[in-house]
Amino acid sequence: MSESGIAIIGAGMIGAAHAAGYRHHLARFPGLGASLETICDANAAQAEKLAATYGFARTAGDWREVLADPAIGIVSVCLPNFLHTEVTRAALAAGKHVLCEKPLALRAAEARETWRLARQARGNSGTVFNYRRIPAVADIRRRVAAGELGDPVQILIQYQCDYAADPLLPHSWRYEFDRAGPGALLDLGTHAVDLARFIMGDVAQVIGAAATISIPERFLPLGTTSGHGHVALSDEKARVDNDDVMSALLRFASGAQGFMTASRVAVGTGNRFQVEVYGTKGTARFSNETPSHFDLAILGEAGPAPFQRMLNRPGSPYVGALAAVPHDLVPIGYAESFGFMIHEFLSAIAEGRPFENGSIEDGYRAAQVLDAIQAASETGAPVAVDWEN
Ligand SMILES: NC(=O)c1ccc[n+]([C@@H]2O[C@H](COP(=O)([O-])OP(=O)(O)OC[C@H]3O[C@@H](n4cnc5c(N)ncnc54)[C@H](O)[C@@H]3O)[C@@H](O)[C@H]2O)c1
Repeated sequence: MSESGIAIIGAGMIGAAHAAGYRHHLARFPGLGASLETICDANAAQAEKLAATYGFARTAGDWREVLADPAIGIVSVCLPNFLHTEVTRAALAAGKHVLCEKPLALRAAEARETWRLARQARGNSGTVFNYRRIPAVADIRRRVAAGELGDPVQILIQYQCDYAADPLLPHSWRYEFDRAGPGALLDLGTHAVDLARFIMGDVAQVIGAAATISIPERFLPLGTTSGHGHVALSDEKARVDNDDVMSALLRFASGAQGFMTASRVAVGTGNRFQVEVYGTKGTARFSNETPSHFDLAILGEAGPAPFQRMLNRPGSPYVGALAAVPHDLVPIGYAESFGFMIHEFLSAIAEGRPFENGSIEDGYRAAQVLDAIQAASETGAPVAVDWEN
């Protein structure tokens, strides 16, 4: 054990993605110098299963106990949304390096205070924006920043999922505004907003937004729930009070515009994420249904050229350095993106530099836009985003 012992707090669906990422990257890159120590979950069986699967040394039931352990230096907060603020702030105060799952907080005001505390903290910190590490997404961003698409004019982001489409999935924290915040908006829209900022820069205004609840009640579970799994249901139903579908029209500080839509009830989509970026000189588009390439069209002297397929190559972001199979055309997606993020986080800690690609500030900036989208959907009026403060 060492001060760079790792603890994962929350052993549900995404705690498992973090555990796999730490395990894989520490096995391949022992120079990252951390060790797999504790899986913490209120559900002891869940913690034990995850610890045994990925070789963590022990389990715990109380996150306070984990934060008090001097052997733990690195913490992933993988708890339900409503616990992120309390546990992340406590981890920062305890001097730990903290990766907090998205959303950083339920509201921008909470996220802002967490950002202030992070700036004063001894440890490094970040918000989990794993989609930034999909090679095609990182490559599109790199090309936009280099001006290959000209001046960015428009971005379209669709994040369509069907994890909640079945009305017989149990009610859980995800369907309560008090514990999850806005539904598809905070769960999926957080990624969409972060990527919009990542590629296009800061958002200055939400011009309009719409939110819909399509399944207004769900059965309560008889036991505990994990992720999006089915469990035995009681006869009792509870209200769903956060959105199943949301859409928003954005104006960026640059003057460019963006449209984003997210759904958790889009039957047949699974987990489908698409981004299209239009600039004065070209267009880039990516769908995670075809994860081995993105498409690029550049305006030539003879006018618009057809789309070219830009394949994952060892020279693509993350592929040569970090992919398990760094070969031409290999599809790389969601699960790997957690590992790439964890690698960057552990590298930043090992090298004593700040973690900047998905920082706590990025978590706050996303929260500002999400608050504005929620407000615009409630009032029907445009909402400005104070992106400089
Ligand atoms: N980055 C991504 O792409 C992504 C994807 C899915 C989920 N997430 C985020 O991850 C977080 C967790 O989501 P999930 O799907 O893993 O949820 P989950 O319900 O599967 O897991 C949450 C776990 O936390 C445990 N828990 C709850 N309260 C606790 C407490 N007080 N102390 C200790 N353990 C406690 C539960 O027992 C459960 O095992 C959410 O904030 C979600 O937004 C991120």
